[in-house]
Amino acid sequence: MSVHKEITKVTTNTLQKMKQKGEKISMLTAYDFSMAGIFDDAGIDVLLVGDSASNVMAGHETTLPITLDQMIYHAQSVVRAINRCLVVVDMPFGTYQGNSKEALSSAIRIMKETGAHAIKLEGGEEVVESVKRIVSAGVPVMGHLGLTPQSIYKFGTYVVRAREEAEAEQLVKNAHLLEQAGCFAIVLEKIPATLGKRVSEAVKIPIIGIGAGMHVDGQVLVMHDMLGINKEFSPRFLRRYLNLYDEIKGATERYISDVKSQDFPNEQEQY
Ligand code: KIV
Repeated sequence: MSVHKEITKVTTNTLQKMKQKGEKISMLTAYDFSMAGIFDDAGIDVLLVGDSASNVMAGHETTLPITLDQMIYHAQSVVRAINRCLVVVDMPFGTYQGNSKEALSSAIRIMKETGAHAIKLEGGEEVVESVKRIVSAGVPVMGHLGLTPQSIYKFGTYVVRAREEAEAEQLVKNAHLLEQAGCFAIVLEKIPATLGKRVSEAVKIPIIGIGAGMHVDGQVLVMHDMLGINKEFSPRFLRRYLNLYDEIKGATERYISDVKSQDFPNEQEQY
């Protein structure tokens, strides 16, 4: 008999069943091997290699500059670390909009070169053709509606989306279109909780919220926000589980002081 415990891997079917059973889906972003391994060991359901890497890993102001090659590098690192969770990779800005053939070749590069399980892209009816083409090639697609950061220069602001009825109606329509096109799940970002509930009840596929309230089928946070590595970013929807900025800064200050005072290394810490 094998001494290894059987690991039940999370698939898109698992997420569908979780929605049906009312079991909430946990999702976090990850961009590197070490953190992805910790999140997977902790039992996270989904890891998103988000294009927020552009902000939190590379220091850009927006998600627009990150390239497909850079996303692939991050995704490869994450996939090497995981045993159980589903890994979804963001299609970066400029690799799918307005051209479904280009969208398919970007998705195929991600799947072939990273070993990830699915891709995510932003938008509603304008990306439906791309979603259909990618899904028809056998690649699972996650949608993303509400505040879609790749369109930040169109919105002009990061405020809550779809507070007005017309935008809310359009968002519900887009959720239906993405479901019909074959998306296995949709991320809803920064919208009123009542609208999150409405969309979650209107479609059969799981709805994962970030600032979309408590009634959706799962939650996602950016790991740097959740762990308190970012001090300045404090939107209402964020719950911080650690204050890593202070912890890491304090540890670094103690290390510097120990080096300067010649307390480190001591007798036991040398050969
Ligand atoms: O890139 C990202 O981190 C995301 C999440 C905000 C859902 O898309």
